[in-house]
Amino acid sequence: MNNTTLSLHERRHSQFIEYKDTLNDFISQMQQPLDKILIYRNSNEFSRESLLQNVIAQHQKIKTNDMFGDIRTIKYDPRFSKNSIALSANAHHLHTDGSFCKFPPSCFLLYFEETDPHGGVSTFLPVAEMLAAMPAAFLQAITESNFCITRSRHQTTSIDDVYIGPLLHNNQAGEQIFRWRNDNKVPIAIESAPDLNMAASAINWIQTYLSDTPYIEYKAKTDELICIPNYSFLHGRTKLSNISSSRCVYRVWLQ
Ligand SMILES: [Fe+2]
Repeated sequence: MNNTTLSLHERRHSQFIEYKDTLNDFISQMQQPLDKILIYRNSNEFSRESLLQNVIAQHQKIKTNDMFGDIRTIKYDPRFSKNSIALSANAHHLHTDGSFCKFPPSCFLLYFEETDPHGGVSTFLPVAEMLAAMPAAFLQAITESNFCITRSRHQTTSIDDVYIGPLLHNNQAGEQIFRWRNDNKVPIAIESAPDLNMAASAINWIQTYLSDTPYIEYKAKTDELICIPNYSFLHGRTKLSNISSSRCVYRVWLQ
């Protein structure tokens, strides 16, 4: 099949998603600058715990998450579903992880222990495509204005729970970081800006772009390990099929 006979969906998959046959290939690709989503299918070679510990040990750049520990379980839980989008059955709107952190994770792992046959599909959108489509005045606004992103509306337990700064900036290693989480639980606020209206319009433009642009869908299979470059892709998921969904995903943040 050549490129012209592929559907848009298939072309975007082959452009942005790469399958690795062995865990060694998966890990060595993770050590390079990543611009694709990596997938490794665990064929009962490792237990879930040993697989994740293996990757963590070899990567050696785990970002310890003070609230959830090294490995966070993401599963519908009625005790927390009102306060946590991750533990609810709702869709997760496109966002970047750790947007409230001084140093957001450069990538993160998702291990799918149980999947939902009719929901909980992973969604991705390349940051570079969005920035290329963004009007120059808005690009300038998200680079020059200071925005405030918190971990949650009510909870600030450490200095790493609040970020104040541009939505688009370079880190000390020269990598470009785009931060985004803007939903009714945690809306982005404008802290200060050369032009407040322009900063507000830039937020609105991004929100509209993310709502209107077809995202890449990936329906993970049970026992798949996925590595997502957090600076290159916004990510989310569709809502779970119902509240008895047994979808269970383990997440690890890496620097
Ligand atoms: Fe996330």
